[in-house]
Amino acid sequence: LPAHLRPLRPADRAPLERLIRATDAFLEDEVAVAMELIDLGLELSAGKDHGYRFLVAEMDGEVVGYCCWGRTPCTQGTYDLYWVAVDARRQGHGVGRDLMRGAEAAARDEGGRQMFVETASKPSYAATRAFYDRIGYLEVARVPDFYAPGDDKVIYRYDLCQAQFRSPTP
Ligand SMILES: CC(C)(COP(=O)(O)OP(=O)(O)OC[C@H]1O[C@@H](n2cnc3c(N)ncnc32)[C@H](O)[C@@H]1OP(=O)(O)O)[C@@H](O)C(=O)NCCC(=O)NCCS
Repeated sequence: LPAHLRPLRPADRAPLERLIRATDAFLEDEVAVAMELIDLGLELSAGKDHGYRFLVAEMDGEVVGYCCWGRTPCTQGTYDLYWVAVDARRQGHGVGRDLMRGAEAAARDEGGRQMFVETASKPSYAATRAFYDRIGYLEVARVPDFYAPGDDKVIYRYDLCQAQFRSPTP
């Protein structure tokens, strides 16, 4: 059964923190940044829009993943995908792809042209890069030694306009 995608709620904070920690993909300072964005995203219900958008994936009433994106300030229709994570036990079942397609659709609906995502070149991120490759993101640039010596920043781009005319992936 596909995951149900819905907006972020205050009750998601604790399960999302557990999920982010349990993926083992993120260092402590990255977890802190992820939680900071979630806290900013939760202020939207109080009328404070910090520009961070969220989708939460739920299966059987359980939070199984989320993604966070936003319009890139000072651009026309450019968006950044800041974070995507799926519960380790639920990976490989299309939840990550569904979350990305949901973020892309929301960005496109408000005039978005392109979505960028940045990731690391180090071997431990090979699965993450394979994921972006498989869902149609194209590597457009690399910044050598950005994260650490030998660990480049890899920038992927997804064309939101072109996607409109592409038949849905089976
Ligand atoms: C990366 C991540 C979000 C992918 O989510 P997911 O739900 O497992 O991915 P999906 O099941 O939607 O996979 C979509 C496509 O990517 C491919 N893919 C996913 N994980 C892969 C892996 N580890 N190796 C190779 N391909 C992979 C799938 O095979 C699928 O392609 P296909 O349908 O053509 O076969 C998830 O594995 C995750 O949370 N990882 C840890 C956190 C992380 O690295 N986040 C990104 C950095 S912010």
